[in-house]
This record gives sequence, structure tokens and C-alpha cells, in this order.
Amino acid sequence: MENQKLGFEQVLEKALSRRSLIKAGTAVGATGFLGGVSTLASAVSQATTMMGFKNIPISTDDTVTLPEGYNYEVLVSWGDPILKGASKFSVNNNAEDQMGQFGDNTDGMSLFHLQTKDGALDEKRALMAVNSEYINRKFMHAHKGEAMDADAIHKEIYAHGVNIFEVKQNGKGKWSVVKNSDYNRRFHGHAAEFVMTGPAAGTDYMRTKADPSGTQVKGTLNNCGNGETPWGTYLTCEENFHGYFGAPEGTEVTKEQKAYGIKAAVGRYGWWQEEERFDFSKEPNEAHRFGWVVEIDPYDPESKAMKRTALGRIKHENTALTINTDGRAIVYMGDDERGEFIYKFVSDKKYIEGDRKHNMTLLEDGTLYVAKFHDDGSGDWIELTHGKNGLTKENGFEDQNYILVFSRIAARFVGATTMDRPEWVACHPSAPMVLCTLTNNKHRGVKDSHPLNAVNPRAKNNFGQIVRWTPENRDHTSTKFGWDLYVVAGNPALFDDEYAGSANINKDNMFNSPDGLAFDKDGRLWIQTDGNYKNEGEFEGMGNNQMLVGDPSTGHIRRFMTGPNGCEITGICFAEDQRTMFIGVQHPTKAWPNAEKDGVPRSSVIAIRRDDGGIIGA
Ligand code: FEO
Ligand code: CA
Ligand code: CA
Ligand code: CA
Repeated sequence: MENQKLGFEQVLEKALSRRSLIKAGTAVGATGFLGGVSTLASAVSQATTMMGFKNIPISTDDTVTLPEGYNYEVLVSWGDPILKGASKFSVNNNAEDQMGQFGDNTDGMSLFHLQTKDGALDEKRALMAVNSEYINRKFMHAHKGEAMDADAIHKEIYAHGVNIFEVKQNGKGKWSVVKNSDYNRRFHGHAAEFVMTGPAAGTDYMRTKADPSGTQVKGTLNNCGNGETPWGTYLTCEENFHGYFGAPEGTEVTKEQKAYGIKAAVGRYGWWQEEERFDFSKEPNEAHRFGWVVEIDPYDPESKAMKRTALGRIKHENTALTINTDGRAIVYMGDDERGEFIYKFVSDKKYIEGDRKHNMTLLEDGTLYVAKFHDDGSGDWIELTHGKNGLTKENGFEDQNYILVFSRIAARFVGATTMDRPEWVACHPSAPMVLCTLTNNKHRGVKDSHPLNAVNPRAKNNFGQIVRWTPENRDHTSTKFGWDLYVVAGNPALFDDEYAGSANINKDNMFNSPDGLAFDKDGRLWIQTDGNYKNEGEFEGMGNNQMLVGDPSTGHIRRFMTGPNGCEITGICFAEDQRTMFIGVQHPTKAWPNAEKDGVPRSSVIAIRRDDGGIIGA
């Protein structure tokens, strides 16, 4: 079974062998590009056996809906106390209150089970690590952001970051937060427990007035999606960090700052007016200390969070880590901005089962690559190493640290494929299959820098698609891969051209803007959306943001969940027995979960169970 080729691999390997026949960049119309998904058109006629629930209709109601036989409870909401002695939630909470509470805008998360006294996995006790990506200023303050002062700014900084807390399950299956556990921690935008690691740590790019060592960082920001390692650590991903930095109007912006969207003037948060390190006219290097993948050991409450410079600095969405057949740790990563890229990290050292101390060093050193997708279904990983692929001093690349700190500039220089906003990446639990959501891109086919191609095949792409690839010879260290589009989202009720989507989309399961993406242990592919929820115009018939399940071998997709008004669904993890699934509901805007009592809607993590206690999705 191990070496037997799976159906999808044969399809994608055929693409690899075709590579010389069709030259990249061949002019093909948009519909011609969509021909690539025809492999799924025949597959969807087969039955799927991995989903035991019925597709649910869309919803425009301010509630969570699930298939018949499923229920949910809210586990934790923004402002709930996490640390010992923390205050209860109130819209009048101040910065100090927020420091001990669950942050805002829940996003990526993982569950780490604890052990029983005799060393077995404890199915009913675990540590949860949850990202708090950003804040909803309008709901965060009683003054709705109209009277920002130092306390309000610090409340916002403390509402960002990572939440670590213990959870337990009672005899009836209900999960709850253990509020006073010694494991509970808050990492936020002001925390002292961060160190830079890897090649760029301690270099001139990292030194600031407050930290001449270039290794000690105050905090983490814009923690979007996540990843986890087989050695039991959490990977939190710093995404849109640029918005926290600003400078007086007219301050000169370097090409490196521009590449990451850093701008002078007030900016999204205006924190720089209160805290000097966010003012890039005074502290240009502080921004270099954000935009990383950060590894956290949830089991050690004294441990420092480690920013992994070897994985490159981009607007990190999430990571998908897999151990290659030769033992190397492979990390796939997307950079979520229109026209940015998909990356791969290959560790130098090899994974050693059971040697946690050694494994915790795997993300310190390795090789970074960026993806080029050819129109014939083949692809190349281009190495981002100084001295290779034109990344030389003469071409403006001073050294390897420059490439790690300004990975976007290197990726663009080597001719990587500009993508339709890479969001989450997911690796299949047993097959050599990796997928990435390309959420949408209104510039595609409109701006010259976003040309149409086979992997980003539609102009003004408001619906998004999911790309899938397999490495050559099932070896994730190979620089060649074959790819296809697992799904092209669309609206077949309104369109009969490429905007109808691929063959596995119909008027009953349609959606837009795939974002969160994860496999469960059985290989069900969970797809979460962060798209237009107006249910009007080209989005009519799609309703509120939602979560669907895909069968990766047949292409079938069914809707499993719909969220409340205004929210996106993002963040997913499972209890070991797969009988509870935890899902994040980010930025609801109306009354869910309980504005009648709380005064405001609150981002929350929910626990989904089956009424009969069965495996979720089966
Ligand atoms: Fe934080 Fe790209 O989503
Ligand atoms: Ca996202
Ligand atoms: Ca998104
Ligand atoms: Ca979001």
C-alpha cells in the first residue's frame, strides 16, 4: 500500500511528464485553463463514502447551523477570563483586565492532550493554543474607538496574540476551560517572552535601540492561522504586521518597507503615535521582528516563544508541517496578499521520534523555496539561497539574511508565480497531497502584475480556488511537483462560463473565498470561508460564511456548517477521539453569541459534537 500510487498521484505525475510539451506562458484563454479540472468532473460521478451527514442549506440568520444530529456549545469568547484572578468580561474592561482574558478575533488553533498519571494520552484533558488575530475596535471599547487613549491602545495590544489554556471534558461530553490552570498563558503584543532564532537572529536587521542584541522581541502580532509539530509544539503565524507600524506623513519609505505594505501616516491602528517602537521613522528595524512563524511549547509555561527566521518573513497565513520519508521536516506556507507566493521550508536536520529536545531545533536551519506553477500542470520549487538563481550581491541581495528578512523581494526576483492570495495550506495525513486555498483576487487579469495563468485562471477572481499538488516521487524535498485545481469556487446558478466554478460545485454547495483548510485524521478535507456574505449579486445563493467538507479522492464537497451574520469561520482542531471538533467564529457583527447579555457580539470558539457521540463528519 505504501508505494502504491493513489489515483490523484497518477493524474498529477502525468502532468509532471507533460512538462516539456507545453511551454509555460503559452497563451490560452481563461476557459482553456479551466480544462485542467476536468479530471475531477469524472471523479465526482463516483459516490463518496467518507461523509455521513447531509449537505445543509445556506443561512442568512444570526446563528450557527449544523447538520441534523449535531450540536454545539460556546467554549470561550473574547474577554473571558483565562489567567488566575482575571476579571469577568465587560465592555468596560480596561487594558489590565484584557491582559488576563481571552483575546479578540479567534483564528488558528491546536489541541495538545495531557497525559494521565500512568503516562497514557488523557482523552479528557488537553491544552488549547488559540490565536487572537486582531481586534474589532468598534466593539472593543465602550467608546467604540472614538476616544483612543494610552489605556485603550494597550487594551488592543493585549487583545492580540496567543492564548494557551487547559480544557477538560466532563462525563456528558461537554468541554470547558480550566480557568486557574498553571498552564494558562497569554502571549500578546507586549510580552517579553520572545526570542529570535535561526540565521537572521542577532543580525543588523534585527537590532533596535531597546534590544541591541537583536534577539529579544516584545510580543507577537496579527497571529492568523497556525500549524503544529509532531513533537507537540504550536506554530503561530504573524500575518498583517505592517498595519501596526506608522510614521509621520512624508517619512520616506524604502523598497523593502513598501514590499510589505508599510506606510507613513496614521495607519490602521495608530499605535506608533503612542509607542515609539511602532514608529518606523524612529525604529526602522522593529518591523523586521514581525512577520515570522513562531514556535511555542504549550507544555512548558516557563518556555520562551521562538521566532523562526529560517522560514522566511512574509505575511504568514498558516503552516502545514509534514515529516518527509527521509526524516526532514517540511513546512508549506502561504503569503496572504494578492499576487504573493507559496513557500516551502526543508529542514537541515532530521526528525528523531521521541527526542523532543532535538526536534525542537529542526526549524532553526534549513532551505527555503518558492513555488512556480507551470501551465502544463507541473511545477518547480525555486531555491531562495544566496548565490543561487541570481540572488547575488550584484543583484541587490546582500546576504542570506537579507533574503530571509525580505523573502518577498527574493521570491519575486526569481520569477515565482504570483498567486490569488494564498491562505491556508494543508497536508493529507497519509498521502503525499498538499492543498492551498487561493481565496480571491480582484486584480487578476486586470493589473499587468497579475497575469492570467492556469493556476490563477480567472480575471477579477472574487470566488477563489483550491490548488493541490503532489511532490515528484512522493518526496517532499524534490524540487518538482505536479498540480491541479481541486475546486474552483463559483456560482452555477448565475453563470455558465468559468464563473460557474468546477464540476464539483453545484447550486447546493456553492461558496466563495475558501480560507481555513485542514484534514482530519481520516482524510476529510475541511474548508472554511472568509468571503462576501451579502448573499446578493454574484454571491446570491451563498449566504453567510460557512464550512464544508471535501472528499479529496472523489472531489465531492458538502456544506457542514453556516456561521452567524458578519463572521468568518476560521480555526479548526479536533479532540484525539475525533468526537469533538473545535471551530472559530471570528468577528460576528450582530448579536451572536449573546449580545443581549454582553452588550456586543464576541468572537468565540465553539465545540461541535454529535448527539450520538460519534465521529465528526463520518
Ligand atoms: Fe488572517 Fe489571510 O487571513
Ligand atoms: Ca485567513
Ligand atoms: Ca481571508
Ligand atoms: Ca480574518
